[in-house]
Amino acid sequence: MKQRNTPLFLSLGILLITTIIVAIFGVVPLPEYEILENEEGLKGKLIYHVQVQSQNLIPPAPDIMDECILSIDLEANSFKEEKIICSSDLYDMSYDIYFYDTEIYKDEINISIWKRQLSSSLEKSSEYVVNQNPSLEFSEVLQPKDVNQSLKSVIGSSNEIQPFLDDVSYLSFTFCKLFDQKKMWLRLDGIDHPMCPRFHTDKLKCRLVTTYVGPATQWIPHHLVNRSKLGYGNEGKPDNESGLFLSENDIEQLDTGHVALLKGESWKGNDGAGIVHRSPYEEGNYQRLYMTIDFIETYINIYRN
Ligand SMILES: [Fe+2]
Repeated sequence: MKQRNTPLFLSLGILLITTIIVAIFGVVPLPEYEILENEEGLKGKLIYHVQVQSQNLIPPAPDIMDECILSIDLEANSFKEEKIICSSDLYDMSYDIYFYDTEIYKDEINISIWKRQLSSSLEKSSEYVVNQNPSLEFSEVLQPKDVNQSLKSVIGSSNEIQPFLDDVSYLSFTFCKLFDQKKMWLRLDGIDHPMCPRFHTDKLKCRLVTTYVGPATQWIPHHLVNRSKLGYGNEGKPDNESGLFLSENDIEQLDTGHVALLKGESWKGNDGAGIVHRSPYEEGNYQRLYMTIDFIETYINIYRN
């Protein structure tokens, strides 16, 4: 017996009619511009925000492709639209916009931490680097774009190290963008023995630190430090006896992979409030691979003296 499939034909019909309507009326038109002449003697600048939308054939809403701040100089002879910045420009700067917060610029902040976790490929790559270069001492003043090549000439160019090179390059770009610098002082160090570091402050503006392998930097929150016990104030006693801090529990520590900005004594208005920190102290032998990025002026100050 022959059966008619009415609901199916009905649905197909509705779909066809909807598609035709959408194709005719659903297209979102882009704005059209024309060059206008300034005949009114206008002055100043017009700055405005626009959303660039896709021309979707299928509604309901067009996708927003980009958002831009544009400007028009009203004093020019003919009005011309100029781009100031678009959201898409930010993609070049970061894949994690969090780092670009302004936390480090707040007066009450002397450490800003990006609590990231290393990916397994970056973790493996970093371990490979320190295994191949257990006493690595890399110290160069560089532009971020030259980091890859410069590091390759020291630690080799096998495929295993590429994730590590990419990350060092990324953080170099990040530092330079954050502080509007063309060059920076990049250091990478590998160690395979414990150190006995003391808590101290640094006479510099700000330093980026991260540890790829092994234990990471320790610090004491500003309100828990007795700063009179720093340096000669310790009267020859070790930090845990000098009164620098009341309890070992006051000592904080970064995790491997965390990226921190440490504000020093030379940051404007931060005299007497530079972060009190030290390299990690751990018993026994361990490997460590860590990186610091500094302003060039720090390099010049150290090597001038
Ligand atoms: Fe330091």
